[in-house]
Amino acid sequence: MKVIDVRNVYLKYPSSKEATIKGISFDVKQGEIFGFLGPSGAGKSTLQKILTGTLRNYRGSVRVFETEVKHRTSNYYENIGVDFEFPNFYGKFTA
Ligand SMILES: Nc1ncnc2c1ncn2[C@@H]1O[C@H](COP(=O)(O)OP(=O)(O)OP(=O)(O)O)[C@@H](O)[C@H]1O
Ligand SMILES: [Mg+2]
Repeated sequence: MKVIDVRNVYLKYPSSKEATIKGISFDVKQGEIFGFLGPSGAGKSTLQKILTGTLRNYRGSVRVFETEVKHRTSNYYENIGVDFEFPNFYGKFTA
């Protein structure tokens, strides 16, 4: 089962001349560990903002648990977890 299915996605920031994401496609299956790499400015954080439903003005299709992310509702966040670049450790918790 594809948990994340990204097809031919483009995203242009309103203030940019060119698209930042240009026709990316990939899928992530249930249980798969998937990484994407790229130099600074390649668009990794932009793509994460699309996947988390923050940037919705993309072209193409981004489906997470079979939901088109631009049409997400608030319960989308009942099913995903994100650790976005900052450490998320709770110092008072023990292992
Ligand atoms: N809000 C914004 N408005 C206009 N352009 C933006 C905006 N946010 C990012 N960009 C531009 O989009 C491009 C991709 O940026 P992004 O932050 O997605 O890259 P990144 O791959 O996450 O980089 P890094 O490895 O430095 O975290 C860059 O050229 C950046 O300047
Ligand atoms: Mg980044």
